[in-house]
Amino acid sequence: MANLKDILVLDGDGIGPEVAPVAVDALRLALGSEGVEMRLDHGLVGGRAIDETGTPLPEETLAKAQAADAILLGAVGGPRWEQLPMAQRPEKGLLGLRYGLELFANLRPALLFEPLAHASSLKSERVSGLDILIVRELTGGIYFGEPRGVSVDENERVGVNTYVYREHEIERIARVAFELAERRGGRLCSVDKANVLEVTQLWRDVVNEVASDYPDVQLSHLYVDNAGMQLVRDPKQFDVIVTGNMFGDILSDVAAMLTGSLGMLPSASLAASGKGLYEPVHGSAPDIAGQDRANPLAMVLSAAMLCRYSLDAPGAGAAIESAVGRVLDRGLRTADIAGEEVRTNGIELVGTRAMGEALLAELTDVLKEAE
Ligand code: IPM
Ligand code: MG
Repeated sequence: MANLKDILVLDGDGIGPEVAPVAVDALRLALGSEGVEMRLDHGLVGGRAIDETGTPLPEETLAKAQAADAILLGAVGGPRWEQLPMAQRPEKGLLGLRYGLELFANLRPALLFEPLAHASSLKSERVSGLDILIVRELTGGIYFGEPRGVSVDENERVGVNTYVYREHEIERIARVAFELAERRGGRLCSVDKANVLEVTQLWRDVVNEVASDYPDVQLSHLYVDNAGMQLVRDPKQFDVIVTGNMFGDILSDVAAMLTGSLGMLPSASLAASGKGLYEPVHGSAPDIAGQDRANPLAMVLSAAMLCRYSLDAPGAGAAIESAVGRVLDRGLRTADIAGEEVRTNGIELVGTRAMGEALLAELTDVLKEAE
């Protein structure tokens, strides 16, 4: 078959193994209808990889990821592995994949699903219609800068991390953000701390230089403290936000919370080649793992992003997204998005499996209607 795509599935830890299969089923259905056949492979990463192989990112997994067209990842981490030294923790598996595959562009949409507007920590009118895209640089900055570590100097411990960006790293993430802004609302806000940190003054300069290639995009700049404040004050002022690794880590959690549920948000981490790793923004949620309580929809929406960004199958992505909209419209809720609503008529509290089955049924209908 001409259109065969290799997808690597990394379930990971906690609720990962519960939510990943739902996304795989959705992917198979949606891609099938577009004439794309997927060849699945599985691998270990994170805590389970530590247990079974002694390392959070086995060579075999990295090699499989390098060979795949796209990777679906559940989540990594859990209390079982928190006592390990930093270099051996589950999170290192994720960071190793990002770095090893040069997944420098992290796309984190914060989209409000209207039926869930009440679940936001902000008043509904502040978030109704919210649709922000955070573009986070993912393979540089203080996460990866050298030197790093803790040493002893003059009889006391000294901790060091290095916040470093090279010009080309700023330029390539800026271009991704400008191009996405062009296709969305045409507004881009770059976030830095240029009043204090030289590295982010360079960030601002390079973003300004790149801007001349995108005359249709309206560019603004904010310091990160102000950006955090604006996000909780009036989030709808934003369209696309571009920022470095650590600021993006923080701001994307803030933006996620505005939508009322971390359980709904997908993410994409892209390389220049178009290869991508797709994972829900929520973590491994060890407290509810294995109880059929996890919300599979963020994982499912990650599969939709995979169709759009790595497989050039936007129709399949759109079908998955509208199926998600429909299960919400039907009143189905997992515990994390049910809130006070559970007592309302027409709202049904369901577990992971039931939500997954309903989603696949809706997706089947959506695809039939599109025929
Ligand atoms: C995220 C997470 C990761 C990060 C952790 C798990 C290493 O918080 O993807 O936002 O800090 O990038
Ligand atoms: Mg984070």
